[in-house]
Formats: sequence, C-alpha cells, structure tokens
Amino acid sequence: MYQTLLTSLENNIFTITINRPDKLNALNKDVFNDLNRALDEIEPDAAIKSVIITGAGPKAFVAGADISEFNGLNKEQAMAMAKKGQDIFARIENSSKPIVAAVNGFALGGGCELAMACHFRIASDNAKFGQPEVNLGLIPGYGGTQRLVQLIGKGKAMELLMSAGMIDANEAKQLGLVNYVTTDGELLGQAKKILTIINSKAPLAVAGCIKTANAVFDESVNGYDLEIKEFGGCFDTDDMKEGVSAFLEKRKATFSGK
Ligand code: COA
Repeated sequence: MYQTLLTSLENNIFTITINRPDKLNALNKDVFNDLNRALDEIEPDAAIKSVIITGAGPKAFVAGADISEFNGLNKEQAMAMAKKGQDIFARIENSSKPIVAAVNGFALGGGCELAMACHFRIASDNAKFGQPEVNLGLIPGYGGTQRLVQLIGKGKAMELLMSAGMIDANEAKQLGLVNYVTTDGELLGQAKKILTIINSKAPLAVAGCIKTANAVFDESVNGYDLEIKEFGGCFDTDDMKEGVSAFLEKRKATFSGK
C-alpha cells in the first residue's frame, strides 16, 4: 500500500516504519507523500488509538531530508519543499491521536524535525540527534528552528543549530528532548507500554490535552481560553460522565470515545 513505509496495527497502536534503510530512511518526496496518506488513514480509523513512528534497519531513525533532491532547486522550489514538509509535520503535531517517535539511531536534520513534530520521543541508546544543515549551507526547513528552541531552550538550540553538533540519547534526555532511553531491543516495547496506558484513557480528553498543550506555542490562540472551552466541552461527553461515575462507584471506567 505504501512505497516507503511499513505499517502495522496491534492493540490499537499503529506503527509506521520509514523503510529506506539503504538511504538511512532519508525523507524523499515519496516518504512525504506516504506519510501524508498514512495521516489520512489514522484520523478516521477508530481501531487506531495511537501511533508510533520509527525507522527501518539498525542505524537510523531518519538521517534527514534526502539531500539528492536538493540539487538544482531554485529558491521558490525550495520554499515549496519546506512548506510541504512543514504542513505534513504540523499534521503530526496537531493529530488528535498521540504520535510518539521511537528513535532508533540517527535522527538528523529532517529526522530530528520529524521526531520533534511527534508528541513526545523515546530513544534507543544508539540514537543521535542533530541539525547538521549548516554543513550544507542550509538551515532546517521543516520546523526545526522553532521546535528545537521550544523543546530544549534557546541557548542549547542555538549552539546545536549553528555548530551542526550531534548529541547522544542520554544528553537528549538531559535536555528534555526525549522522555526515556532504552536499549534498541526494548525501544518499541517501551513506546507500546506508554501508549497502552494512554489508550486506556478517555480519547477525547487525550485529544484535548494535545490541543491545549500545543496552544502554548500558537500565538493566534489564547491557551487559557482554549483550556476553559475544552474543559467545558468534556462535560458534554459520555466519557466524562463514565469517568466520574466510575470513580464514585469505585470501578474501572470504560471509555467509548464519545
Ligand atoms: N540524504 C540522502 N542520502 C542519505 C542521507 C540523506 N540525508 N543520509 C544518508 N544517506 C545515504 C548515503 O548517501 C549512503 O548512500 P549510498 O550507500 O548510496 O552512498 C547511505 O545513506 C548510507 O549513508 P553513509 O553516509 O554511507 O553512512 P555512514 O554511517 O557513513 O554515515 C551519517 C551516517 C548519518 C553520519 C551520514 O550518512 C550523514 O551525514 N548523512 C547526512 C545527514 C544530514 O546532513 N542530514 C540533514 C539533511 S538536510
């Protein structure tokens, strides 16, 4: 179904594996088109409650945008390329279903940007993060200058952006870029463990958490006002009635997502 992705659905967790291991899973046009189509598939499918994005092979999550596609582009074409990548990564960031990056090796350039567009990140101990675009006479184009500052703060982000420095998984964890570091073998299991917990919660409330937390970084939205609206909206859901009743009746809630 996809040229460049492997997908599987197990226990309501949809795993997307970017599958160009011989090119370290570099993001070419086909990968972007496939990711866009996968996002189309995720949103309406009730069997999918959450998503993992990872990379094929032992070396890389994603080693960046496919540099071979940069050759000969003019300014307008490059801007269109950045816009398309940003739009797809914004779809990931704004997905109402949790999307976690399981970073299993190099996450460089567009790969780091893809991981940062996900709601949070888990890394294997061989993961390496960086924005090496300045080595190519470039800056990041898929949101990296913005999200790296948001996630690790301006000072360290500036250093990494300007120096093309790479950090390992443990430093990424210290900086708050990743939530957990595991062995390579335990990476997907750890992601699934956390998503299984999240999947047991009220889906509309989970979606509300994503929307309101993202509002912190959206100047067009007042996050506190949005929180009031989303909080109020929860009171119109079956799941809120079920959650509160279950607590008062000392039983486990069963959420319908309505
Ligand atoms: N775009 C296109 N192809 C890429 C790529 C990218 N971003 N990253 C790796 N590849 C390709 C290599 O060209 C090579 O292909 P080949 O076997 O046909 O020559 C293959 O993937 C393996 O990469 P290689 O460089 O041989 O692996 P390595 O272990 O020696 O080095 C990296 C790994 C990640 C350090 C190195 O591949 C690299 O620096 N990649 C580019 C990272 C980058 O600048 N990303 C930002 C892009 S904006």
